[in-house]
Amino acid sequence: MSLEFLLYDIDGDGIATITFNRPAKLNALNSGTLAELEATLDDAKNNAAVKAVMLTGSGERAFVAGADISEFAAMSPVGAQKQSEKGQALFRKLETMGKPVLAALNGFTLGGGLEMAMACTVRVAAETAKLGQPEVKLGIIAGYGGSQRLPRLVGKGIALEMLLTGDPITAQRAYEIGLVNYVVPGAELIGFAKQLLRRMLSNAPVALSLTMQAVDVGLSCGLAEGLRYEAAAFGLSAATKDMQEGVAAFLGKRVPNFEGK
Ligand code: COA
Repeated sequence: MSLEFLLYDIDGDGIATITFNRPAKLNALNSGTLAELEATLDDAKNNAAVKAVMLTGSGERAFVAGADISEFAAMSPVGAQKQSEKGQALFRKLETMGKPVLAALNGFTLGGGLEMAMACTVRVAAETAKLGQPEVKLGIIAGYGGSQRLPRLVGKGIALEMLLTGDPITAQRAYEIGLVNYVVPGAELIGFAKQLLRRMLSNAPVALSLTMQAVDVGLSCGLAEGLRYEAAAFGLSAATKDMQEGVAAFLGKRVPNFEGK
């Protein structure tokens, strides 16, 4: 795959790292970056060698400072609606890929950058990161899922404060409101993030995938329906080879060797 705006690397633990690589523009998401992101996510989903994905940004300053504002001027209302739907669908791919996806926020995480991070399974921020939805300052609204995922993650009141002021918050504040899972020194970000993913990857892959699905379904339906879904997914997990292996390993006092089957 030939890439201009991203770096894509798969390590020996099966962690695929996608790095937004336009540091001079604070890794802003132009249409080329979005197209390459779609191609790499498709590969990461379908490639059996990939067990988890990490997103991060090149350079010291930014994860992603939002959608590329220079592409906005030429947008018609219908074009903008289509663009919003396209971005939403792309981030939905992140959310539903069936493998853990971690956003390692190494700096500015604004607009579409924060919307993308919120579609990930978990978020870890460097101490210097700044997170925000500044779209209203440009006369638009968050269009890649921000108005929907932010209140689900942090609650309506704080979400509306962030969405209406457009002001960024610190990594520490993001941690306090549950927007990021951890804040770590910048130099430790990638090592810490990979360690967190490896802790997940030591568990049964099908169970990981079914758990993410159950949480995803449950957040968009009522409790009774969510519980029914959970019971069905639990039944499916109980029919896996991984479940037999997990139980046998526990009883045999050994480390399980899960195959994802
Ligand atoms: N789209 C396009 N270009 C962007 C960008 C974006 N979202 N964010 C930053 N850039 C570009 C700047 O235009 C500048 O390019 P230039 O050197 O060719 O002029 C470069 O990245 C560096 O940014 P700059 O603004 O000079 O850095 P700064 O330290 O003064 O400010 C920010 C950093 C993040 C506060 C500021 O860049 C900013 O507000 N960016 C826009 C954030 C935003 O509104 N995102 C949501 C878009 S919907």
